Amino acid sequence: ESRQRTKLLELHELATAWFEEQLRSPEGALAREYLSGRGLKPDEIQKFRIGYAPDSFHALRERLQSVADQETLRLSGLFSFKEQEDGKPGPLYSRFRKRVSFPIANESGRVIAFTARALEAGEKAGPKYLNSPETPLYSKGNVLFNLDKARQAIRETGFAVLVEGQMDCISVYLAGVKNVIATSGTAFTEAQVRLLSRYATRMIVNFDPDTAGANAAEKSIALLTEEGFEVRVVTLEGGLDPDRYIREHGTQAYMTALRAAKRHSDYLIERARQLFPPTTADAKVKALNFLLPHIRRMPNRITRDEFAADAAQK
Ligand code: UTP
Ligand code: MN
Ligand code: MN
Ligand code: MN
Ligand code: MN
Repeated sequence: ESRQRTKLLELHELATAWFEEQLRSPEGALAREYLSGRGLKPDEIQKFRIGYAPDSFHALRERLQSVADQETLRLSGLFSFKEQEDGKPGPLYSRFRKRVSFPIANESGRVIAFTARALEAGEKAGPKYLNSPETPLYSKGNVLFNLDKARQAIRETGFAVLVEGQMDCISVYLAGVKNVIATSGTAFTEAQVRLLSRYATRMIVNFDPDTAGANAAEKSIALLTEEGFEVRVVTLEGGLDPDRYIREHGTQAYMTALRAAKRHSDYLIERARQLFPPTTADAKVKALNFLLPHIRRMPNRITRDEFAADAAQK
């Protein structure tokens, strides 16, 4: 109900401010070093409300327990717990520890979840990014990272740039491309496409230039074109993701890559030729089978026919 929602929003706001405070504290030194190593300046860190979840199981609970009861704290997703023998939840402890925290906001800019990056790699540190679970506030498939900051620019330009990761999104935004949003690594969903269709009709997909990124791009193209979006696709040179590309080659080079984004049909034809070099009849059949579902999906007769003709010829 809405009182619970209000409470959960309050907890997220307090947690965000507390993580920000921790980043500025002596305990946050390593995290500050990490972020400056990734090229983020203090005002940029502030803009995205990036923080630090310290290496403590209980500190956040101590900060929040006067604000909400145990059940509400548990529902917030900010804590983990072990189920006890009687089936009840055991003591709550911080889900995010020794991690850089990135708040995830809803469209109106209220924080509803977090993703948090390990400072170091390795098995002991756990997954690279740890996310809030599904909660009454947050359903992963319904949210796009940075939509709160990007939506005005998306509306004004009529398109959005879609990237995979938080750091990609932040770097692209800071490079001046304000209409950028991130899927947060998961498969793009129909709900997200519907969300975007309120703001734009065109999309530039800029996922990582690796197999996972290419697969995610294909799925996203399918969802978007089916909804009538005009889709272009960027492939960055050198195997760099957008964040690293901007750090290594600069804003201008990234802008050039954006302008060179290919129509999705050309991108897919090229991808088909890569996957199945059309030197034999068998490979040509495979390449066409790869493309056919994409061709069929085009809602517009003229662009569909053109796509089919290009595919057959190339
Ligand atoms: P990537 O593996 O491409 O990471 O995952 P990245 O964004 O380049 O990470 P950095 O630059 O090393 O910090 C893309 C996105 O997938 C999600 C995150 O949202 C990440 O930004 N992801 C990735 C997870 O949720 N969990 C993971 O363990 C890894
Ligand atoms: Mn990736
Ligand atoms: Mn790149
Ligand atoms: Mn990446
Ligand atoms: Mn990256």
